[in-house]
Amino acid sequence: MRLQNQIALVTGASSGIGVGVAKALAANGATVVINYRSHADEAAAVLADITAAGGQAIVYQADVSDEAQVEKMFADLIAQFGTLHILVNNAGIQQDAAFVDMTLAQWNQVLAVNLTSQFLCSRAAVREFLRRGPQPAISRATGKIICMSSVHEEIPWGGHVNYATSKGGIKLFMESLAQELAPQKIRVVNIGPGAIQTPINRSAWATPEALAALLKLIPYNRIGQPEDIGNLAAWLASDEADYITGTTIFADGGMTLYPGFATGG
Ligand code: BGC
Repeated sequence: MRLQNQIALVTGASSGIGVGVAKALAANGATVVINYRSHADEAAAVLADITAAGGQAIVYQADVSDEAQVEKMFADLIAQFGTLHILVNNAGIQQDAAFVDMTLAQWNQVLAVNLTSQFLCSRAAVREFLRRGPQPAISRATGKIICMSSVHEEIPWGGHVNYATSKGGIKLFMESLAQELAPQKIRVVNIGPGAIQTPINRSAWATPEALAALLKLIPYNRIGQPEDIGNLAAWLASDEADYITGTTIFADGGMTLYPGFATGG
């Protein structure tokens, strides 16, 4: 119960890694806002699972790449719960294409959902953290922001230039924000997941052949699960990680270790 009496918002929490994060934060005692854009039934199922496990949560529909919707969501949440302690900027999409075929719409959509949403939600969260001020009985930090990045903030990814660009952007977004806000006791960190078994990368694990090819990129030799990321997020949001800010923690089974060099080079 490391997150008791804390209010947490998880964006994109109706699917994939967001589900694992929402459940883990709730299991650690946080009251979780399950944000989703279009999958109302899936969001309701996450809420039902959390409630059945004895946790506290609500669902909230909003497109986090839209400034007006983000502002309204934060106003509503603060009206309902009084404040916010933890923001997990999780919402993300892929729109893959060979570079020569990539449309401006594919580029803009990925940057909007993956990067601009993190700006909009973090700005709203920081304004609330500063308005509310420290609550040392609840948490040593005045606020915590966890940004969902990827191994692709580090590993270039041909065929996914828009996506890798968004994740590289999140790296310096997080570092600059952490540097600016550390004096106010606001911690900002990235999680860099590797291949986690979710709908976003179904083609990479759905057949035995695809999975075998994927595992060649993962020294630890298993695909990750949403709980692997959820548990890390719960710990990073807790006071056990109070001295951690401005850094990326990769949870990737060693994907960032240049696996080709284990036998080559
Ligand atoms: C991507 C997945 C991919 C993984 C490892 C993630 O950020 O969304 O599609 O499997 O990185 O390459």
